[in-house]
Amino acid sequence: MRSVTRGRDYHALFDEFFDIYKRRPIVSNDGGMLIPHMFATWVLIREAKPEVVLESGIWRGQSTWLIEQATDADIISVDLELGNRVYFSKRARYVDYDFAHLDLSALPKSKTVLFFDDHVNAFDRLMQGRAWGFTNFIFEDNYPPGLGDTPSLKQMQAGSYDAHGPDRKGDAPNWRQKALRNLRPMLAKWVYRAERYDAAQLQGALAALNYEYEEFPPLKVFPDTRWQTDWRKTYGDIPACLDPAKMSAEAAALIEREGRGYTSICSVRAPEV
Ligand SMILES: C[S@@+](CC[C@H](N)C(=O)[O-])C[C@H]1O[C@@H](n2cnc3c(N)ncnc32)[C@H](O)[C@@H]1O
Repeated sequence: MRSVTRGRDYHALFDEFFDIYKRRPIVSNDGGMLIPHMFATWVLIREAKPEVVLESGIWRGQSTWLIEQATDADIISVDLELGNRVYFSKRARYVDYDFAHLDLSALPKSKTVLFFDDHVNAFDRLMQGRAWGFTNFIFEDNYPPGLGDTPSLKQMQAGSYDAHGPDRKGDAPNWRQKALRNLRPMLAKWVYRAERYDAAQLQGALAALNYEYEEFPPLKVFPDTRWQTDWRKTYGDIPACLDPAKMSAEAAALIEREGRGYTSICSVRAPEV
């Protein structure tokens, strides 16, 4: 994959988005997307002009609502646990089987956006989508090396072993979970179900793919991340897409509150097959 950046009038887009975001059905979307990834997803889906959006990972339904705001496309919403929904879409077709086990043969391959927020290994999802010939992917949890709870394309391209990263600093609620997390790379050698891989192989595999990879920029660069690590060391020098001087006080305050929810989000575009 090759990294690309796309020129956009972020301020104009954000002004339009912010009026929509103020009407979100779930005001505090704990455990789900906050303003930086909501904005990114809204922009990326709008640009794709899809006929279908398939999301995997619904949680309480905020992302389903967002997709409705971004497009008139048909929506397929997948989650193994549908019981957490608070927002119910009239337009979405709800499915509670894993994405890997769905018959997707009838979907328009280059007019469908696959949006993954299901905390499943991103390489697996990319390959599963490509097997059907899909061209447009969004990975919501594009975690940086050593952080987060699911293997991401960002980690894999950095050659970092993050199936269960040994130095992960996420919010393990107690010492028992912390210890378990650190034991996982060792246990992975014996535990059949553990996700394990050779980091160099995955790095090579991704480098060999003729796909475009875009990391959507944050709304604001903070001194530290949600994991209390240094922002620039964690994400690299990706500048914020908005200038605080050009923002309303209301938008600035909300970005101040939710902006650390950024964990990197990316889109992948692959050629038609
Ligand atoms: C982070 S939440 C999704 C947040 C949601 N997109 C939002 O923005 O509010 C992750 C969701 O993935 C779901 N999930 C876990 N494994 C899954 C799988 N294999 N397929 C689909 N969804 C899955 C969980 O049940 C949970 O609802």
